[in-house]
Amino acid sequence: MIFPFELDRSQPAPIYLQLYHRFRESIADGRLRHGDRVPAVRALAAELNLARGTVEATYQLLMGEGYLIGRGAAGTFVTPQLAPVSSPMLHTSVASTAYPTTHSGVLPLALQLGLPALDAFPRKLWTRLAGRQLRQAGLEGLVYPDPRGHAPLRAAIATYLGISRGITCHPEQVFVCAGYRACLDLISHTLMRQGDRCWLEEPGYFMARNALLAAGAQLVPVPVDDQGLDVAQGIARAPDALFAVVTPTHQSPLGWSLSLPRRLALLDWANRRSSWIIEDDYDSEYRYQGKPLPALKSLDQQGRVLYTGTFSKVLFPGLRLAYLVVPAEQSGAFARQADHLHNHCPHVLQATVSAFLNEGHFARHLKKMRSLYALRRQWLVDALHQQFGERLLINPQAGGMHLVVGLREGDDIELAQRARAVGIAVEPLSQWYLEAKPSHGLILGFANIASAEQALAVALRLAEII
Ligand SMILES: Cc1ncc(COP(=O)(O)O)c(C=O)c1O
Repeated sequence: MIFPFELDRSQPAPIYLQLYHRFRESIADGRLRHGDRVPAVRALAAELNLARGTVEATYQLLMGEGYLIGRGAAGTFVTPQLAPVSSPMLHTSVASTAYPTTHSGVLPLALQLGLPALDAFPRKLWTRLAGRQLRQAGLEGLVYPDPRGHAPLRAAIATYLGISRGITCHPEQVFVCAGYRACLDLISHTLMRQGDRCWLEEPGYFMARNALLAAGAQLVPVPVDDQGLDVAQGIARAPDALFAVVTPTHQSPLGWSLSLPRRLALLDWANRRSSWIIEDDYDSEYRYQGKPLPALKSLDQQGRVLYTGTFSKVLFPGLRLAYLVVPAEQSGAFARQADHLHNHCPHVLQATVSAFLNEGHFARHLKKMRSLYALRRQWLVDALHQQFGERLLINPQAGGMHLVVGLREGDDIELAQRARAVGIAVEPLSQWYLEAKPSHGLILGFANIASAEQALAVALRLAEII
């Protein structure tokens, strides 16, 4: 037997997840080493007296998260590049959510996280603009695009950020990347060395976690409270960290804003230590109480903030277009890396987004979406109150596209799985923690709720499950 594994049928977690956790622990504590071959599905199923499908489900999850790698007929192996875990505080093994994320090509399920209102996207207008770009592109549309991004789009983003996010930057500082992950990859290739310590919000966005681990960073989870990242704790845990990844506008996933004293403390730390702050401003455009907060970058006088934004939430994620703003002194180094990485974004899409911004459609679309989301959010809050009363703790977030509800009892992973079985794609909050004892809760995307009746129907189905 590769490791002792006893099924606990009294546990709410299904067997394939129990086995998955056992694998993860064995990799983390070194019982399974990087590059080790793991037993074939059939052999392990026989050894543990399980159905083959159960072991297959475990392996698929582990492979999907990068723990295991399949090498065809040669077998399945623990991913060789996984670095060993070096201390309880530093995380260097690839970790991710055990729950299948909704960031894959599935159509919107009820309450699916991370998607904007797909029914409200102006597709006709988009098609017209895209058609025009295709017709007008000439040779420019056929050659390799600029690896830093399409120049008119970089200029349009710089203008937009100046007006909407209080960020003063030159288009040369703007880099267009294929999604947030690609922004992080460009940052890590340009500035990060193997073993650099990096603060990460706890709980925090799993995609950032995975990208930084893949880059060889040592992650230092830093707790979050209702004022956002606890900067003092970050300084206490790893004063010498070279990076801090933060979501200051709406902490992901809890939704709190980073308070002004903490913003100033974070900048002060970065200035003193010459560390880098990676600001992830992923859905800052949506705020339902008060005005949108300016970006942390707008306070950055000494050029320590690397700012990222995305078109996934304000247009649609299928675009795979995000952007990174770097300090002016760094633009040369980033341009060389962008050229080296060769991860260009398609010309037509960039040109279409640029037209969308420059011709005023973007501002109109955002305005419409803000009131639509405020309505949809309220429908969901009302429906949850009606169905659950005090049984669910609704986190009163001021912005964003999802709600976090705390559970007074029950296991959120199991609940999320039961919900998924009936077509509801809530995500379990506990999966967003790396180290701390997780809070249990559910993350509910409200952007695609089409009516108050639909919100009620979904809440009713959830109530039956919970
Ligand atoms: C916290 C956070 N940051 C950034 C992003 C943007 O990711 P992308 O640009 O890859 O769609 C997301 C998307 O879900 C997110 O949740």
